[in-house]
Amino acid sequence: MLTTIIYRSHICDNVPVKTLEEMVDAANKKNGYADVTGILLFNGTHFFQLLEGPEESVLTIYQHICEDVRHYNVVELLRDYAPARRFGKSGMEIFDLRRHDTNQVLQAVLDKGTSKYQLTYDDRALQFFRTFVEAREKENYFEIPSADSWDFIPDQQDMVAGVPLAASDVDCSFAFQPIIDPLAQEVVSLEALIRTPSGDSPQSWFDTYKGDDVYAADLKSKKVAFAMAAALNIGKQSLSVNLLPMTLVKIPGAVNFLMQEIHKNGLVPDQIILEFTEQEIISRLDEFTDAIRQLKAAGIRVAIDHFGAGFAGLSLLARFQPDRIKINRELIEDVHKSGPRQAIILGIIKSCTSLEISVCAVGVEKPEEWMWLESAGISLFQGYLFARPALNGVPAVAWPEKKAGF
Ligand SMILES: Cc1cc2nc3c(=O)[nH]c(=O)nc-3n(C[C@H](O)[C@H](O)[C@H](O)COP(=O)(O)O)c2cc1C
Repeated sequence: MLTTIIYRSHICDNVPVKTLEEMVDAANKKNGYADVTGILLFNGTHFFQLLEGPEESVLTIYQHICEDVRHYNVVELLRDYAPARRFGKSGMEIFDLRRHDTNQVLQAVLDKGTSKYQLTYDDRALQFFRTFVEAREKENYFEIPSADSWDFIPDQQDMVAGVPLAASDVDCSFAFQPIIDPLAQEVVSLEALIRTPSGDSPQSWFDTYKGDDVYAADLKSKKVAFAMAAALNIGKQSLSVNLLPMTLVKIPGAVNFLMQEIHKNGLVPDQIILEFTEQEIISRLDEFTDAIRQLKAAGIRVAIDHFGAGFAGLSLLARFQPDRIKINRELIEDVHKSGPRQAIILGIIKSCTSLEISVCAVGVEKPEEWMWLESAGISLFQGYLFARPALNGVPAVAWPEKKAGF
């Protein structure tokens, strides 16, 4: 199938512009053999390339291009299918925008096109050309440094505490993972993640309950979470715990139980954040938002976990505004390379900023993901890059430190 990829990237400082013609000659030949055509725009700083041809060939060439050390911050903007080539004349042609009059440059690019029909109507690929040529999205090109410009240095030893309750009260355990502001070097919150007593996954723990028993067990497990937090001497540190939305709806007196356990362990409601996942909320939104009022009235804050993974997305925020949202790993993964993910996350940030909802990125594993998200305006992070959850304890945080010379 005729496939199109469009990306943009940043030329490396040490690449002389005069070597580009040579590079394009070689690319032209390779593309010709692979039946790939396209055009490469250059504005002195950024490249913008359209590649089109048989899917496998386009993907192989794009893979090579991504690995090329002559440019960096390669962001895929479009991957789509089309009935005809837009630039079918040559394997590769470079078009230096600086050599053209600003008012005529877009037309000059379009004149290179071979499919008049596609280039005249509302074609997304064409709109990307227009945006690049007119430099309309430039404020969203976050030029992040290379991954090896930072060290991540653990600041202490993991802190581990035993489970401070009688065995009859305990059928679960918790692993704690910090939510941090890396540049302020501050632990903003600790999240208590449920595990089986031997440390197995939340799913293994939930699987031991049938039907509605899961809600009573879910609520009771918070007793263990709060007791462990107290035993770990978390002090005034804010503590995030997960709760199934239906636990609040189905268990009478759930909020009172939580309040009792919070006080019993020397904690205060203001330091507790209850996290609910988006997917479970939207199935019974009215009942859930009713229950949430009681929590808010008691002074407990609320977060939506796995935001972006369910079906509601931003429209959920029209019905109910939490104190914090946590963007799902699916959107975070390789965000520095993906135009669509960047656009969605910028949209989430914009909406949440207007609503004074704090935004946390979850599942951050790569320095580039973190750097892109910081540049986009997120300051709260959770992920293996900084700290893995520690069973029955609090892990050391690996804080980022800029390497000398970067
Ligand atoms: C901005 C830019 C655009 C490129 N476009 C192409 C291209 O369209 N086709 C191509 O084969 N190589 C292109 N290259 C070069 C590839 O990255 C790579 O050097 C080339 O495929 C040779 O790879 P090889 O030596 O591993 O075979 C481009 C490089 C850059 C920096």
